[in-house]
Amino acid sequence: MSDQSQNQFKQRMTEAAKLVEAELKSVLSDKIRGSEIARPEHLMRAMRHGSLNGGKRLRPFLVMEAARIFSGNETAALRVATALECIHCYSLVHDDLPAMDDDDLRRGQPTVHIAFDEATAILAGDGLLTLAFDIVASDETPLDASAKVKLISELSQAAGLGGMVGGQALDLAAEKQNPDEAGILTLQQMKTGALIRFACQAGAIIGNADMNDYARMTKFGQIAGQAFQLADDMLDVTSDTQTMGKNTGKDADAGKATLVGLHGIDWAKDQLRKLAADASNTLDDMNCETDILKQTAQYIILRDR
Ligand code: IPE
Ligand code: IPE
Ligand code: MG
Ligand code: MG
Ligand code: MG
Repeated sequence: MSDQSQNQFKQRMTEAAKLVEAELKSVLSDKIRGSEIARPEHLMRAMRHGSLNGGKRLRPFLVMEAARIFSGNETAALRVATALECIHCYSLVHDDLPAMDDDDLRRGQPTVHIAFDEATAILAGDGLLTLAFDIVASDETPLDASAKVKLISELSQAAGLGGMVGGQALDLAAEKQNPDEAGILTLQQMKTGALIRFACQAGAIIGNADMNDYARMTKFGQIAGQAFQLADDMLDVTSDTQTMGKNTGKDADAGKATLVGLHGIDWAKDQLRKLAADASNTLDDMNCETDILKQTAQYIILRDR
C-alpha cells in the first residue's frame, strides 16, 4: 500500500470510529426507552467506561465497509456496527476480570473492575451484551424483520456458546491443557474469529447480498479473524504496554496457548502475510469494489496496536 492510500485508509477508519463513538454515546444516554424502568447511574457510567474509550473499532468498521460494497443502508450498518461493538466491549470487560485474564489496563485506562468494582464490571458486561440485541431489534434500525432476525440469530451464535463465549472457556481451560495446533486454532476461531466473521456477514445481510457473496464474506471474515488473533498474540510479545494501551508480555507467563508460543515470531510474521493474501483472494471474483476490505486485511496484519 502506498503512503497516500495508507493515510486515506487510516482517515476512513477514524471517521467510522467517530460515528460509532457517537452512536454508542447515544444508546448509552440516560434516556429511558420502551419498557425500561430506570437506568442506574453508576452502571451506566461503568458501561460507558467500558465502551467509550477509544478502541480501534475494527469490527464496526468491517460491518460498515462490508455493507457499503453491497450498497446496504448506512444507518442500518452503523446501528449493527454499534451493536457488535457493544458485544466486543462486553467481552473485553469480562476478559479482564480477575477470574479471567486479570488485567488492570485496557485502552490506556484502568479496566472496569478497577475503576469501579467486580460486581459492577460483570453487570456492565451483561448490560452491554443485552443492549446489543436491543439495538438490532429496535425500530431505529431501518431493516425489515427478516433481516433483523437473521442478524440476531447469527450474532447470538457468533457471541455465544459455539462462538466467543465458548472460545473464552476453551482459552481458560487451555492454560492447563496445552492443546495442539488444531486445538489452538479452534479456540481462536471461536473466541475472536466468530465476531469478526459476523462483522463481514452482517454487511452482506444488510446489503442483501446473494448466497455466493455471503459465502465469500464469511470466508473473508474467518481468515481475517484468524489473522487478527495471531497478530494480537504476536503484539503481546513484540509491542509494549504504552503502544497497546494494555499490558503486554503476559500470555507466556499466564500459560496461554498461542501459535506464537508454539512456532515463534518469524513463523507468525510469515503466516500473517499468507493469511492476508488468502483473505484478499477470497474477494477476487466479486463484482463490487473490495479494495477497502483488502486494505483492512493488510491493516490487521501490519497494525502496531
Ligand atoms: C482485543 O481486541 C481482543 C482480541 C480479540 C484480541 P481489539 O484489539 O480489537 O481491541 P480494541 O477494541 O481495539 O481495544
Ligand atoms: C480476548 O483475547 C478475546 C476476547 C474474546 C475478549 P485476549 O485475552 O488475548 O485479548 P487481550 O489481549 O486481553 O485484548
Ligand atoms: Mg483472554
Ligand atoms: Mg485478555
Ligand atoms: Mg491478547
